[in-house]
Amino acid sequence: MLTGAAAAFVAARDVGVLATADATGMPTGVPVCYAWDGTDLWIALDTKPKRDADPLRLRRVQNILARPQVTLVVQDYLADAWAQLAHVIVHGTARLVPPGTPDHAAAVALLRAKYPQYQAMPLDARPAIAIRPDHVTTWGAVAARAARPATLPATITGRRSVRRFSDRPVPRDLVEHILEAARWAPSPHGRQPWRFAVLTQPATKARLAAAMGDEWRATLAQDGEPATAVAQRLAASQSRIRTAPTIILPCLYLADLDQYPDPDRQAAEMTMAIQSLGAAIQNMLLTAYHVGLDMGWMCAPLFCQSVVQAALALPEAWLPHALLPLGYAAADPKRRPRRPLADLVRWDD
Ligand SMILES: Cc1cc2nc3c(=O)[nH]c(=O)nc-3n(C[C@H](O)[C@H](O)[C@H](O)COP(=O)(O)O)c2cc1C
Repeated sequence: MLTGAAAAFVAARDVGVLATADATGMPTGVPVCYAWDGTDLWIALDTKPKRDADPLRLRRVQNILARPQVTLVVQDYLADAWAQLAHVIVHGTARLVPPGTPDHAAAVALLRAKYPQYQAMPLDARPAIAIRPDHVTTWGAVAARAARPATLPATITGRRSVRRFSDRPVPRDLVEHILEAARWAPSPHGRQPWRFAVLTQPATKARLAAAMGDEWRATLAQDGEPATAVAQRLAASQSRIRTAPTIILPCLYLADLDQYPDPDRQAAEMTMAIQSLGAAIQNMLLTAYHVGLDMGWMCAPLFCQSVVQAALALPEAWLPHALLPLGYAAADPKRRPRRPLADLVRWDD
């Protein structure tokens, strides 16, 4: 049956390949949108352009009428993260359900909720395919992938800042995959004004935490914070650094940028570089989430750049701008709400 992680994986994907065969056994495969109602998989005979406008003359429908045994393959392919490959193969019995039945109406509602484009299509007036799973085969990282969306919009809205990690280590190839995403960020003049230090060794993380802690203690004391509050904030921040399985430290690197005689243009050049560093960081945050990892963002290095440089023996031209702890979330943190678009956007009409 289709249950557990396999069901969650299938429900969270948008496209599968439906295999059917005709009476002679001649197979055919076709990509399909589908919805899972907990009992059946539903496929609309929609009005996307097709060779034959009459849904009953479609090859897949003719095949199902002749031979109801079908297979639906749903898969995730991550080109640079093969440890995350996953697929579910559902073998089942298909039937054609005419419009006008309660089952059909409920399925159309499900399909429309999953695919907004279906709201404008007359699915209520057309038959639909229902597949009752007979048996299910799963392969690869189905459980891990079930918790992650397959599409870019869902990855963007699903990502969140993670502040506590389990001690499960992060495979090096995944860290490299995340850094590779940074490399493709836009940058002023294409100069890529960023460099990345990667911290995986407990001793390095401890050294960094201690050095930053000393600096922060002095700053907080200057601000007049009570000693107990200072100690608490320091302990929390140091623990975040020490317990993160991996840390990526994005640095601004200005040496390759244009030089201007006037300070205004030079400042704009610098701002562009910082904007670009933000784009590189966002590429990494999204990629980490996409491949099943989680990331946070700590701005602390900005406030003690030379201390971080000294603790990590970084070149002087590498200006630390953030700390990105990377690992597997210890708990699923809450997603912060967002302002509505109307608060953020002004159109010219
Ligand atoms: C430039 C920048 C600096 C940030 N610094 C910190 C930080 O020092 N500590 C922290 O816990 N989160 C930090 N964050 C993360 C934000 O708090 C977080 O992105 C925001 O609350 C929205 O939550 P979300 O990322 O989970 O959607 C920073 C984010 C940005 C963009």
